[in-house]
Amino acid sequence: MAEAHPAETRITLRNVGSIDPEKIEDYLNAGGYRSLAKARAMPREAVIEELVAASLRGRGGAGFSAGLKERFTRQATAPPAPPAPPAPVYVVCNADEGEPGTFKDRIIMERDPHLLIEGILIAAHAIGAARAYIYIRAEYDTSIRRVRRALEQARERGFTGGNGASPGAGGAVEIEIRLGAGSYLCGEELTLLESLEGKRGYPRIKPPFPAEVGLFGAPTLVNNVETLATIPAIIDRGAAWYTGLGTPDSPGTKIFTVSGDVARPGYYEVELGTTLRELIFGFAGADKLKAVLIGGAAGTFVDASVLDTPLCYDALKEKGAVLGSGAVIVMADGRSLRRMTTSILEFFEHESCGKCVPCRVGMTLLVRMIRRKEPLEALVRESEYMAANSLCPLGQSPILPLRSLARYFPAEIDGSEG
Ligand SMILES: Cc1cc2nc3c(=O)[nH]c(=O)nc-3n(C[C@H](O)[C@H](O)[C@H](O)COP(=O)(O)O)c2cc1C
Ligand code: SF4
Repeated sequence: MAEAHPAETRITLRNVGSIDPEKIEDYLNAGGYRSLAKARAMPREAVIEELVAASLRGRGGAGFSAGLKERFTRQATAPPAPPAPPAPVYVVCNADEGEPGTFKDRIIMERDPHLLIEGILIAAHAIGAARAYIYIRAEYDTSIRRVRRALEQARERGFTGGNGASPGAGGAVEIEIRLGAGSYLCGEELTLLESLEGKRGYPRIKPPFPAEVGLFGAPTLVNNVETLATIPAIIDRGAAWYTGLGTPDSPGTKIFTVSGDVARPGYYEVELGTTLRELIFGFAGADKLKAVLIGGAAGTFVDASVLDTPLCYDALKEKGAVLGSGAVIVMADGRSLRRMTTSILEFFEHESCGKCVPCRVGMTLLVRMIRRKEPLEALVRESEYMAANSLCPLGQSPILPLRSLARYFPAEIDGSEG
């Protein structure tokens, strides 16, 4: 699905289908690496403040301000004290893409890998990092191959790699690919850092946040692929242009991956604030809607009453829903929400790392409870206990789909349905 829908607003996907992702010349001819040159001519703080002004929110799920994260990372970095070498600081690109129903980062890496590299290099310049890592799930063969090839080309052209300049300046940034082994939890930023350090994928206690104590104890900027790939356009065209798109609380565009009962499943980049109705009926061709799961397994179910709500962080929150990673799974009349919820809870049970009791035992309990057709109210209560007592966000996730079911489909899980 390379062709853009005529009503899409493609910024991050602007080159998809029009360039050969294996040719750096194509990317350069499309204006590629122009933003990097512009950013490197700017003071680091000016790059950071441009991103703060653009109000770009992280596209990995949590929606935290990308500019503020860079500012905090920069502030936590010890100033250079010559003749000692500068203190380490890292950029980590989260390309684990483990949320069910989400496949947007794969499209960027497969179809326009240089855009991601350019975004990483601008972020590295902003925080003064000399080293960056891209943590890609090992199943993403084509993404890995394309990003690897693009890195070789970027190095040949002097965009990355040591070139004698001082670390963090000019092109002296090393970017390395590291492969994840398919653990959902390793997409969580602190667990990801443990995995990058070669340790078992167990989460760390937060705070401290990675901006202060991240990879190998150094300040670290962790951003999602889509977030980083949005940076070049903001540097090129400016924060004022970017905030003119989307809504005041959620500027810009977002890639949604639509699957399930639709005629045209796939990825769509649209302005935030587009309604769910436009996305699933207009773009993706849904029909006879029963429910939509927004945000993947750690997401929320909604019914047709939410169709005219703008897809943006705050409006969805008011409806008890989350935007999450942008996964949109459509269920038509006749689909069983019990079956869907059972498979979500089985997924969480499988992915729980077992480190803390409330989640390890709670996930197994939830699966048993739904199989025994216990009342939804009891499942929600158990998920509330887990949310309050689990060590990391995974144990705090089942409450999202369960509470949304209680709000929109209170009768679907109890009784004999499905
Ligand atoms: C269980 C779990 C899995 C996650 N998986 C991913 C993932 O695959 N990719 C991702 O970008 N963020 C994932 N996140 C969110 C990250 O922890 C983090 O918020 C994100 O990498 C920050 O980048 P952003 O600010 O650009 O969104 C996950 C979070 C949790 C709790
Ligand atoms: S909440 Fe679950 S995934 Fe997180 S540490 Fe505890 S057992 Fe592991």
